[in-house]
Amino acid sequence: MDIKILDSHVRSMLSEKRYNHSIGVADTAQKLAKLLGADEEKAYTAGLLHDCAKEIEPETALKRLKAYGITVDEVSISSPALLHGPLGACIAQIEFGISDPEIFDAIWFHTTGKAAMNTLTKIIYIADYIEPSREFESVDKLRELAFSGKLDEAIVKASGRTIQYSIEKGRTIHPDTVHARNYILINQHNEQ
Ligand SMILES: [Fe+2]
Ligand SMILES: [Fe+2]
Repeated sequence: MDIKILDSHVRSMLSEKRYNHSIGVADTAQKLAKLLGADEEKAYTAGLLHDCAKEIEPETALKRLKAYGITVDEVSISSPALLHGPLGACIAQIEFGISDPEIFDAIWFHTTGKAAMNTLTKIIYIADYIEPSREFESVDKLRELAFSGKLDEAIVKASGRTIQYSIEKGRTIHPDTVHARNYILINQHNEQ
């Protein structure tokens, strides 16, 4: 599907604010891909689509995932905001005909991360965190790390922040977020 058509689908599925966030993620992902020598077009597409399922009600999201044959884990059911990653990946693949497995993965895991992420998945995970409209205390530090090519360090900080936030709010922590962070820290330790 042509990027302009994808863009109009995303625009029709989201509020103006979230659409603008998606464009911010797409642009940021493209810049990071350029910096890292990854595929810029794939990064832009995955960024544009990453939140396409974000405004689907949890009940509908669960039904649609079931219809796509996806079994949802208990943590995601207890924290329904997590459903939009897997559902967005399915919509991109099935409704928009995006067959690229890396784009599928990047959308699926953009909220939780996971162990052994490939470059595109890392790019979307961090671009979602640092796109220009994001405002939180350590965002400039994360931008600095990501745009100096230190994606792993940025992901350790970002996933740590997500875990901390979940604890503060009394919410469950998705094990994939713990795996994402541990995987990088273990690798860094082994390289020392
Ligand atoms: Fe998201
Ligand atoms: Fe997002």
